[in-house]
Formats: sequence, C-alpha cells, structure tokens
Amino acid sequence: MATRFARLTDHPLFSGALVLAFLAVLALPGQALSAQEAGADEDVTYTRDIAPIIQQNCQICHRPASVAPMSFMEYRDVRRYARRIKDQVARRLMPPYHYDAGSGIQDLKNDWRLSEEEIGAIVTWVDNGTPEGDLADMPEAMVWRDEQMWQQEERLGPPHHVIKTDPFDVPAEGGDMWWRPIVPTEVTSDRWIRAMEVRPSWPAGRQVVHHANPKLLRLKEDGDFQPLGNLSEYAMGKIGEIVPEDAARLIKPTDMIEWDTHYYPMGFDVPGDQIELGVWFYPEGYEPEFTQNLRLYPLQGDIFLEPGGTSMTQGFYRWDHPVRIDSFQPHGHVHLHGMSIKAIYPDGKQEVLSMVSDFDARWHHSYIFDDDKSPLLPAGTVLVMTGWYENSADNPLTDSEMFYARGSRTVDEMSHAWIAVSHLDDEGFERIKAEREAKSKVTSDDGAGSN
Ligand code: HEC
Repeated sequence: MATRFARLTDHPLFSGALVLAFLAVLALPGQALSAQEAGADEDVTYTRDIAPIIQQNCQICHRPASVAPMSFMEYRDVRRYARRIKDQVARRLMPPYHYDAGSGIQDLKNDWRLSEEEIGAIVTWVDNGTPEGDLADMPEAMVWRDEQMWQQEERLGPPHHVIKTDPFDVPAEGGDMWWRPIVPTEVTSDRWIRAMEVRPSWPAGRQVVHHANPKLLRLKEDGDFQPLGNLSEYAMGKIGEIVPEDAARLIKPTDMIEWDTHYYPMGFDVPGDQIELGVWFYPEGYEPEFTQNLRLYPLQGDIFLEPGGTSMTQGFYRWDHPVRIDSFQPHGHVHLHGMSIKAIYPDGKQEVLSMVSDFDARWHHSYIFDDDKSPLLPAGTVLVMTGWYENSADNPLTDSEMFYARGSRTVDEMSHAWIAVSHLDDEGFERIKAEREAKSKVTSDDGAGSN
C-alpha cells in the first residue's frame, strides 16, 4: 500500500498537498510496519544523515537555475522524490558519474561517486518512510561560490587567457542543438599550459549548455590542421583539466580551437550565448620535464547491431617509450554499453586499469587518476581498449527495432577513447616509481606506528 501511494507522488499531476492528504489517511500503517522491520536502522533521519549527503552531492545540480529539472533544497522536495532518489542512487545512476566501483584504479580526482554507506543510508531512509528528524540536527545551508568565478580561480587566480565561442542564439523550444565554431587561439607566443577550464555563461548558459569541448587544431606545414584532441571539456559540475605538476601541454599562436558544444533549449531564449575557455600558463620560458597530450585512440572493427543484438570492438596501442596514463574517457553514442582499458606489461602480466560498464552518452566524463595512482607503463606495454555495444529495448535513447552500424552521425554507432598521456624517459619513469614507493612506505610506516 505505502509503495503504491508513494509512487503516485512522482506523477507530475499530483500536487504535494493532495498526495499528503492521501498518505495521511492511507499510507501510515504501511510506513510504521517497514520502520519496525528495519530495527536499528530506524533512526536514519533527514536532518542528521540525509541532508548532508544531498547538500554535498546533489544540490550543485538540483537547485533552482541549475541543470537538473527538480530542486532538492528543502526536506519536502527531497521527500517528494524519495522513491526516485532511492532508485537512482541504488543503481548508481545519480550522481551521474558512471565509473565502476569494483574494478580498475579507484583513486580519481573529483570523484562524484557516493560511498556504500551513503547509498545504504538513503535506501534505509526511504524504506523507513523518510523521517525528518530533529530540526536542530540540520546542517548549515551550503554556501555556493560566486557563480561568476572560475572554479580554479581561488587556487590559481583569474585565467591568463580566455578563448570564447562565436555567439549562438539558443531558442526557447526545440531539441538538442550542436554548435561547432572554429576560432583562433589569439595567444601571441608558444606557451605551456598548466590548467584549463570551460565555463558557460551565467546564469542562462548553466542551464542550456549540456556539454562543451574545445578541441585543439595544429597548423601543419602543408597548411592543413591536425586535430590534437580536447583541451578540456565541460559537463555540469566538472572542474577543468589539471595537468600534473611535472607535465604540460603546448599551445601555439597558429593553433585554432574547434568547439564541439551541445545546447538544450529550456523554455526561454538565450540570444548570443558564448562559452569561454580559461587557460592558465606556466611562466614564459618554462620548459616542462614531460609533455602531456590528450588524444583519441580508435577502437577498430565492425559494429553491426541488429534489433536486440550486441557487438564488440577493440583498439591496441604500444608506445616505444615509458608513459604515464593521466586520464581516460570513453566515447561512443547511445549503444555503447561499456568500455575498459587494460595493460599487458612486457613481462606478460595483465591489469585492468579502468572500467566503465554502464556508459551513458548524455554524460561525458574524463576520469583523471590521482597523481600517485596514475598507471606507469614501461616501454613496450600494450594498451588494450575494449568497447561493447547493445541494441536493447532497455535503452530509452534508441529504437531497438532498428539496425545500426558504424558511422559518425548521432544515430550511428562509433567509439574511441580519449586518453591523456605524459611521455616519460627511462630516467623519469624510474624516478617517479621510486618516489611512489618511498611515499607508500612512509604511509604504511605511519599506519604501523599509530596502531
Ligand atoms: C551533475 C549534475 C547532477 C548531479 C550532481 C546530480 N544530478 Fe540528479 N539529475 C541531473 C539531471 C540533469 C537530471 C535530469 C536528466 C536525467 O535524468 O539524466 C537529473 C535527474 C535526477 C532524478 C530523476 C531521474 C528520473 O528519471 O527519475 C533523480 C531522482 C536525481 N537526479 C537524483 C539525484 C541525487 C539523489 C543526486 C545526489 C546524490 C543527484 N541527482 C546528483 C543532474 C544531476
């Protein structure tokens, strides 16, 4: 009974007040029962246990004038969506991060995933009938940073250089829209980049920009441009690219930036919208120890998807020098179900480095490894990228009655991995390895001492 009526609260036609009246009359006995069954877990309360999780992990998007369609600022808002919240967090669909908890490197920068304990608390709280708890336990409201500031401004100051898209008129109504202007970098000399960040306009852009990726194009001697991969990438909530301390990326006056931006109309006109790329440089004359580049690594082979069918592709890459893998981002369209990267070391040992088995083409993430955990691959290591695809009726983004094949239109399927690689020499490789070993020794010695 309780379940059935709680589900009604999700229906847009039901106003909160009407539903409350229903629940008060009919649903209470059911709720009391599940609370009894839950035993000790009974005292998970909104104010003490759930509000901090919602504040720190959801409100950035679930608040007025942000990207999500519903706000989770007040107890009654959260209670109203409780069943859907339970469902989304239990399936790890929200926060929208999509990185496997069970396999590959788990130490990531800017990791949005909830812990098992946080997920368990939310599930128990919803099963217990969403008790509010003692108002005195309610944490202070979040203080949001000045929205006009760059996310990295506190640490690095304002960016040294800003590159903007050409203006784009976003209409009030319509479906997905793509805007791909090519603009000059307007840097005046070769510079090494330390950090980058993409920022939509405020406040309108924060709602209508779904993602925005500036790609670097380098002028070749024959006058053509060579794509060098994304400089950075924006998806709501993400901080920019931080290049590791010992590495840097180069930008030249003759480079161009090709923007790949995706807008979604939200019910109001946004005339002349511009998205910005902020760039922080190393000082003039700086020479990095290693260079880093972010580029596309293709997965080869046919993709043929019949209704209900599956497909698989692979890519292989071997460097002739030691490298460090700094980040990994799977890319595919709506049928890509998962992608993994695996190392086969020269001694034959194999290791899964990263796994995304529930890819969602609506959310693009570059998974950046923690500085001391990014994989170090000796010369001759083979990197194996595997992508798998499914044309399934469970997938709301596609018509699974149709056939699909490889291609570059949105309805076709394709895939590749974006990988940021620092290019090392033998000396650098050995030094980083030794530094990490020394650090992990200190940490385990500390641990032993405090026990
Ligand atoms: C990066 C932004 C972002 C964050 C962080 C985020 N959400 Fe969302 N959420 C969205 C957007 C956008 C939608 C609507 C589109 C969609 O469903 O993908 C959404 C939809 C939802 C829905 C409705 C899904 C459905 O179809 O029933 C629920 C429930 C939800 N979010 C819960 C949460 C919870 C709980 C958290 C924190 C633990 C959270 N979200 C964090 C952006 C976010």
